[in-house]
Amino acid sequence: MISRMRRGSHTPASNRNWIPGKENRSGQNNQLIIDYLAESLRYEDLKFLKGRVRKLEPFIRGNKSRRLGEEAGYPYLREDLDQILDSRTLERARHYIKRLVKSLSEFKTNGINDINLNRWKEYDDIITDSLWIFNRRDTSGSHLGWYWGNFVPQIPHQIILRFTKRGDWVLDPFAGSGTSLIECIRLGRNGLGVDISPSTVRRASAMIAKEPNLFGVTCELRKGDSTTADFHRICLSHGIKNVQLVIMHPPYFDIIKFGKNKGDLSNATSVNSFLEKFGKVVKQTSTVLEDGRYLVLVAGDKYQDGEWVPLGFQMMEEVKKYGFKLTSIVVKNFEDTRAKRDQKELWRYRALSGGFYVFKHEYIFIFRKRKKGN
Ligand SMILES: C[S@@+](CC[C@H](N)C(=O)[O-])C[C@H]1O[C@@H](n2cnc3c(N)ncnc32)[C@H](O)[C@@H]1O
Repeated sequence: MISRMRRGSHTPASNRNWIPGKENRSGQNNQLIIDYLAESLRYEDLKFLKGRVRKLEPFIRGNKSRRLGEEAGYPYLREDLDQILDSRTLERARHYIKRLVKSLSEFKTNGINDINLNRWKEYDDIITDSLWIFNRRDTSGSHLGWYWGNFVPQIPHQIILRFTKRGDWVLDPFAGSGTSLIECIRLGRNGLGVDISPSTVRRASAMIAKEPNLFGVTCELRKGDSTTADFHRICLSHGIKNVQLVIMHPPYFDIIKFGKNKGDLSNATSVNSFLEKFGKVVKQTSTVLEDGRYLVLVAGDKYQDGEWVPLGFQMMEEVKKYGFKLTSIVVKNFEDTRAKRDQKELWRYRALSGGFYVFKHEYIFIFRKRKKGN
C-alpha cells in the first residue's frame, strides 16, 4: 500500500536516479515512468501533484515527446497525462494516474485473445461496431483474390484478432482459397482447412505455402467433405484435441456453383436440403471446438422466384441448434468489383421495375459455444 507523504517531500530510492529533464534525456524505460507516477500518488495536494506530473511534459510534447511515449511502448502516454493535468479533483487525478500506471505495467485480458484491456485505446484497428464497410479488399502477399466467392481477408483478420490468442488453432471447414489460413499464418495462429474441391485445394495450398511463416505455425488445407469429415482425427493428427475458433464461409446455397461434387453444398437440391447439410458441418465442427470459444459464420441471403430468401438467418438458426449462443450480428457491405460495377445499371433498372432492393450486404454471425452445464 502506498503510504501518505507530505507534499514536496523527497523522491524515494526507487526513482531517485530519474528526474525528468535532469539526469536522463534518453534511454528512459517503462519502470522509471511507472515509479515516477506511482510516487505522485503520495501527494495530497492537487496543485503539487500536477506540478510533479507536469515535469514529464517536456518529454511528452514536441520532439522529445515521441521518444518517451515510444520508449514506454505506449503511444497514448501524452493523452493520458493531459487527462491527469486536466483533473479538477485530487481523487480524479489519482484515478487517472493509477489507470496509467496499470496501462504501463499490467496485462489484462479476457482470456480469449491477446488484447491488453489496460491499453484498449491502442487497438483502434480492431472494429467493435456492428457495421463493417470495407471499400477495398486487402490484396497483399498471397491474398490474390483469385477465387470467385472468397471473402475479403479483413474478415478473418478481425475475427482472429478478436477471438484467438497467438498459438491457438483455427478451423475453416469451407476453406476455399485459404483466405483464413493465410491470415492465421500472418497472425501467428495455427490453421486447419477443409474444402471439397480438389482443384481449389491444390491451388490454395500452393498460395498458402508462399506466405512467409514468420511465427512458425502449422497450416494445413485438406481435401474433404465437411459434412462427414472426422475433425477429431484431423486434430489428433496434429497432437491437439480442440480448436479455439471455427470460421465458416459456406456457399450461399446455389448462388455460386463451386463444383460438380454431389456433397458440395452449392449443389443441394433445395433450401431445406442445403440447411440440413450445413447443420451437419456445424455439428461436426462443434465437437472439436473448445467450450466457451467462438464460431463465426459469414453468410448471405438470396432471391428465388422473386422472393427474398433469408438464408443467412436460416443458417443462424441452424447453428443455434448445436449448443451455441448468438453474441453478435455484423452487417458487412459488398465491395464493388469490376464485374459488379459493369452490371450496376442493369441491376438498378431491374430493382426499380421489380420493386426490390439490390443486395449490398452480407452477415457475420458470432456465436459462443456454451460451456457444459450452461
Ligand atoms: C464461399 S466459399 C469459401 C471461400 C473462402 N472463404 C475464401 O475466402 O476463399 C465456399 C467453399 O465451400 C466449399 N464447399 C462446399 N461444400 C463443401 C463441403 N461439403 N465440404 C467442404 N467444402 C465445401 C466450396 O468448394 C467453396 O470453396
